[in-house]
Amino acid sequence: MNQGEVAQWVDQARSAFAAAQDLDSLKAARLAHAGDKSPIALASRSLGSLPADQKASVGKIIGEAKAAIAAALDEATAKLEREQDERVLRDEVVDITLPVSRSHKGGLHPITIIKNEISDFFVEQGFSVAEGPELESGWLNFDALNIPADHPARTMQDTFFIEPVESGIVLRTHTSPVQIRTMLENEPPIYVICPGRTFRADELDATHSPVFHQVEGLVIDKGITMAHLKGTLDNFARHMFGADVTTRLRPSFFPFTEPSAEVDIFFNGRWIEWGGCGMVNPRVLASCGIDTEIYSGFAFGMGLERTLMVRHGITDMHDIVEGDLRFTRQFGVGL
Ligand code: PHE
Repeated sequence: MNQGEVAQWVDQARSAFAAAQDLDSLKAARLAHAGDKSPIALASRSLGSLPADQKASVGKIIGEAKAAIAAALDEATAKLEREQDERVLRDEVVDITLPVSRSHKGGLHPITIIKNEISDFFVEQGFSVAEGPELESGWLNFDALNIPADHPARTMQDTFFIEPVESGIVLRTHTSPVQIRTMLENEPPIYVICPGRTFRADELDATHSPVFHQVEGLVIDKGITMAHLKGTLDNFARHMFGADVTTRLRPSFFPFTEPSAEVDIFFNGRWIEWGGCGMVNPRVLASCGIDTEIYSGFAFGMGLERTLMVRHGITDMHDIVEGDLRFTRQFGVGL
């Protein structure tokens, strides 16, 4: 080994490192020119067997050569890593200005959206959500709600009866039977809303549909008064129609509430009837086994179609039931 040879090893190492195209080939070059079996490593290991007078001078040459090779390796490594980073940045770039696919991915029907919105609003306040069957016994749909057999709502005109009529089964005309089911199955306190599909023998026109939706609210607890009903309806109305909306209770009659009222909202400059409400009739509480000396309660019910129509200025019920995507898409996907 002489000085010229060592200089050659350094040159060879430098050019091999510089020629490496990527980190893998650099690794191979490093093993060949700086690894355990490389000429410079072998020379370094043989230093010990040199005569003492040569050790220092040869050791210096070899030390400098190793340092030069290590520096060349560092430089090549840094260069290839930089190139790799740049390549990743370039190849994996996402062009956020490219046009997106505008195909419609589907979504919920606006009635489902508003139903979920109402459920979320009440669940946040500790209410639970109850559902019941759409085919209901006449007893739960009428009798338990204190609607007597001669009440006009029980005639063929309003109610869809299931044949044979003696079966006593009807398509529920309101969600109020879910009130009864809830009271029969649970002990007070009860805080529940019952959204669902309801049926009445109406022709489909601009404001009616034989199939529609209601949401009913029911609260049974100690010391419940009409003030609680009014406060709950005020909050609910503000949530649905905005902070400026005002509500008003107008005396009315329902067999299952006493006293009863219609709830109107003042919205877009006029009074609009929104739904029915009242204090649950003690006869209804008693028929569900609730002690009327201890508990009282309120109930309210409104149509979801009506709520949607009022809020969004929809003038034709057909738009809600026909499922034309040009209509439903305006409400977003609501997922
Ligand atoms: N069930 C009544 C209806 O369908 C609405 C209502 C619910 C009224 C609860 C009072 C209390 O018209």
